[in-house]
Amino acid sequence: MTTSSNPPNSVTPDQTSGMWGGRFSEATDAFVAEFTASVQFDQRFYKQDIAGSIAHATMLAKVGVLTEAERDDIIEGLSTIRSEIEAGNFEWRIDLEDVHMNIESRLTQRIGITGKKLHTGRSRNDQVATDIRLYLRDEIDDILKLLERLQKGLLGLAAKNVNTIMPGFTHLQTAQPVTFGHHLLAWFEMLVRDTERLQDCRKRVNRMPLGSAALAGTTYPIDRAYTAELLGFEAVSENSLDAVSDRDFAIEFNAAAALIMMHLSRMSEELILWTSAQFKFVNIPDRFCTGSSIMPQKKNPDVPELIRGKSGRVFGDLISLLTLMKGQPLAYNKDNQEDKEPLFDAIDTVRGSLMAFADMIPALVPNIEIMREAALRGFSTATDLADYLVKKGVAFRDAHEIVGKAVALGVAAEKDLSELTLEQLQQFSDLITADVFDKALTLEASVNARDHIGGTSPKQVEAAIARAHTRLEQLYA
Ligand code: ARG
Repeated sequence: MTTSSNPPNSVTPDQTSGMWGGRFSEATDAFVAEFTASVQFDQRFYKQDIAGSIAHATMLAKVGVLTEAERDDIIEGLSTIRSEIEAGNFEWRIDLEDVHMNIESRLTQRIGITGKKLHTGRSRNDQVATDIRLYLRDEIDDILKLLERLQKGLLGLAAKNVNTIMPGFTHLQTAQPVTFGHHLLAWFEMLVRDTERLQDCRKRVNRMPLGSAALAGTTYPIDRAYTAELLGFEAVSENSLDAVSDRDFAIEFNAAAALIMMHLSRMSEELILWTSAQFKFVNIPDRFCTGSSIMPQKKNPDVPELIRGKSGRVFGDLISLLTLMKGQPLAYNKDNQEDKEPLFDAIDTVRGSLMAFADMIPALVPNIEIMREAALRGFSTATDLADYLVKKGVAFRDAHEIVGKAVALGVAAEKDLSELTLEQLQQFSDLITADVFDKALTLEASVNARDHIGGTSPKQVEAAIARAHTRLEQLYA
């Protein structure tokens, strides 16, 4: 093919046509070349692409498809290219479409004809599926480390607040007193399930498609188990058509990422409420906040707000991948090139959000007195008074009715149940005696009484924190 035979709006023939130009009579349209390229975003897994190629070449030499000298040239060439990329001396070319062809083309430029042998017994279809899995596996490991740091931060803050009492809410209305430590442990539990989901997802990510070639496998006597071992894969994929096609592992990751973001968003929402002038339960240090350009008094909880906002894009990334996959016939289709950006976006967003949370949580300062004051309002011990009557033989539904009337009096008198006199309380039931104030109507009595696994009593929270440390050790062993 010569330059003159190409229409004006085309890339030069020595470019992509060198990779697959044999059957083409004109070069790719310049806009089409750019439109179909992925190198702008898939260069991010150059490291995994090179590692995969080195393993592939090593295997090809082991089974006698490459000589040892050829293998060594390829490995050396690829290692040099990795250094070039890392030093910023690598010219990424759109006309070479993707990370795979950029690196292969550069290899041939460097080491000559041997470079053209690297792709023996392989296709970009199994290559890209392998790269994404290697890349995602590394990212999952980093995300798990961030989760662990955040979980430890929560346990640390919880340990300091085993005895800190705050109102617990349902419908965002004061419900019953809880300990702040207990509330933080609720967040911890959400994140433990997130960890388990990611670890489970990792098992299915860590299988090797390489050897599936374009779709049907390859005619060379490849040793897939050997390549898998070199790359740290747990197993090889069982079916070549499936292996080059399905991205369910990435969808699973995005689903796990979406759940992490949903949890972080809920925690953010609480932090935003708690730092408001109306609640004042918690102070977020200035370094995590920003001000207003017009209102001098403002200190905004930007980090939690942004994370609450960012949850939406990760949910979108999940839907993008599901939709990308649903209509595809077997095996590989170019649609799959669109798997990368939603996956990368979910990875980046979840990483950034976890990083911010892991830094911010240990720095939170609870306003213990204000939390306590709030717990004293809103009749938070009403259930305790009902339970007190039940213990004296009243049926729960009747006790509920009695206490409801006492609350109505409190509302009218603008007094908490603990601020009513014994005589006032006895109007509603003569079973109420002087011990009611200690046994039922103090905040301490209320939380201490919830003394079972999963309950809010300081004793239970302390035990839960101890168990949580052991669970973390097992989780991240
Ligand atoms: N850049 C492509 C992708 O991301 C690599 C695989 C291309 N395969 C093909 N047959 N065109 O999916």
